[in-house]
Amino acid sequence: MTDKTQSIHKEWSSRFAFILAATGSAVGLGNIWKFPYITGENGGGAFVLVYLLCVAGLGVPIMIAEIMMGRRGRQSPVNTMQTLAREAGADPRWHYLGWMGMAAGFLILAYYSVIAGWSMAYIFKAFFGGFFSSDAADIKALFDDLMASPVQQIFWHTLFMVITMQVVMRGVRGGLEKAVRFFMPALFFLLLILVGYAMTSGSYQQGLDFLFTPDFSKIDADAVLTAMGHAFFTLSLGMGAIMVYGSYLPGHVSIAKTTFFIAGADTVVALLAGIAIFPLVFANHLEVASGPGLIFQTLPLAFGHMGGGWLFGVLFFLLLFVAALTSSISLIEPGVAWLVENRDMDRAKACVWAGSACWLLGVAVVFSFNIWAEYKFFGKNLFGLLDYLTANLMLPIGGLCIAVFTGWIMKSAHAEQELELPAEGFKVWYVLIRNFAPPAVFLVFLHVIGVF
Ligand code: PHE
Repeated sequence: MTDKTQSIHKEWSSRFAFILAATGSAVGLGNIWKFPYITGENGGGAFVLVYLLCVAGLGVPIMIAEIMMGRRGRQSPVNTMQTLAREAGADPRWHYLGWMGMAAGFLILAYYSVIAGWSMAYIFKAFFGGFFSSDAADIKALFDDLMASPVQQIFWHTLFMVITMQVVMRGVRGGLEKAVRFFMPALFFLLLILVGYAMTSGSYQQGLDFLFTPDFSKIDADAVLTAMGHAFFTLSLGMGAIMVYGSYLPGHVSIAKTTFFIAGADTVVALLAGIAIFPLVFANHLEVASGPGLIFQTLPLAFGHMGGGWLFGVLFFLLLFVAALTSSISLIEPGVAWLVENRDMDRAKACVWAGSACWLLGVAVVFSFNIWAEYKFFGKNLFGLLDYLTANLMLPIGGLCIAVFTGWIMKSAHAEQELELPAEGFKVWYVLIRNFAPPAVFLVFLHVIGVF
């Protein structure tokens, strides 16, 4: 390693710091905003089951692989892939995988920042009493107002991007550890309160049935792809975010145990969000498939009616904002790390470049909710297109390549040496990453394009 990479390449202060940062990356809008709305759009139980199977069968082994590759390569994903390909005597073009990941992170952040902006707007709406004694129609009008206003959305999107870039500029360690240490337990606690409220809504059982009673007639190939894509999205896999965090990981940390914790925490948060939201949807006769606005149209109803709702409302959207922030940082980190390593920029300059470009695309995403709403590509607005392209295509393809690389290209002895698993555990992982994950992802793609 050169002096330069060493100085750029700080390590986490401890295993715990890595767990916090990686959990911060995984737990985000994907769990609380996206999981409930795509579950609603895809019919509930069967979709949830496929998603859970994908998290366990694909997400966990691929996360182990991605952290392991990062720790062995110790650079940005593009350069890590180059180093690892060289070490394995493989085609240097494997580094394009790093490029695709960087591009995916960039495209995701453009719309992620807009949605994070919505949650910032909602902190203020909650603070100024916007949720008080409102009925479902008022709460919907509140959301529709925000959607119709490019000015408001651009304001919040800009603010969110500036804050994200400020944090990234200071390097991955500053501030991040403290934020996650506080917000994770707090978020968990607030979700429990919301679940408690959902229990009193009168439609609790109906909500649970929707989430956990699978009806396979409700899902088609595209729903299966969405569930699989979401498993990658929610665990931050397939684009190098977890790889770049792994590259800051000290040696001799159990990668497998760490992965179980992250995937477990991420799944629990998503399920709690679903359990809190769906009873409210049914109790208020709302539409389960109302799309990206779902949490913004349901949770304020709970805050408007429950004791202490004002405080909980403000806190909830504040925590959602922090959760989004700790994920956004990891979306742009592969790009920033690459600019620093290869374009001789300091972190500040790299952040300004990467952040500005992402911001600009985000402005177009804002317009796709109002003045450009009628422009459709493949039947989707720009937001829908970016989401489909990244979550349903780029991340699973990235995950597939990671599985192929670690299962078939990298020497198994190297993987074994990095992972330090008991022999049995290593065997299970190796079979999953080599023989199960690649064909499974591939088959889902074939199914979507109608081969069978
Ligand atoms: N996992 C994050 C979430 O669920 C989103 C994300 C995807 C972050 C990919 C980094 C990489 O909100």
